[in-house]
Amino acid sequence: MSTVTLRDLYAAELHDLMNAEKQLAAELPIMAGRATSARLQRALEEHHAETKIQIERLRLLLEQLNEPPRAVPSGAVAALIEDARRRLDDAERGETLDAALIAAAQRVEHYEMAGYGCARTYAHLLGMQEHADLLQRTLDEEGDTDHKLTDLAESVINIDAMK
Ligand SMILES: [Fe+2]
Repeated sequence: MSTVTLRDLYAAELHDLMNAEKQLAAELPIMAGRATSARLQRALEEHHAETKIQIERLRLLLEQLNEPPRAVPSGAVAALIEDARRRLDDAERGETLDAALIAAAQRVEHYEMAGYGCARTYAHLLGMQEHADLLQRTLDEEGDTDHKLTDLAESVINIDAMK
């Protein structure tokens, strides 16, 4: 599938986001299960539920573009998850593991936020304002999750890990 126009690039971005979200959706329950902090566990579980809604939004957008699914895993997200697993396996204490879980989740969130920001801008330029609005909604949710994780890290988890 060659990418010629901005519309092709938009579709490619949506496919990549869809695959990235699916990879993260598979990993989040595992990450939540490893968390020591109940608040972190809940935050990861809540983001898992949110991720399923985000996947449905992407499915809708791709359907409207008449784009059949392209199940090509995101190499970038696979690498981020692989790195995270290694780092988490090295963490010997629950408190340190929690700090590492936050860092890992935020790396993937930032990858997704970059993708959603680009896709939203392409949709806007292509005159697909409803698409742009839906992508902005997901982008806002990703940003909220990112802030929630930062607050949790800075107020409790990094401090516990330091002890
Ligand atoms: Fe997401």
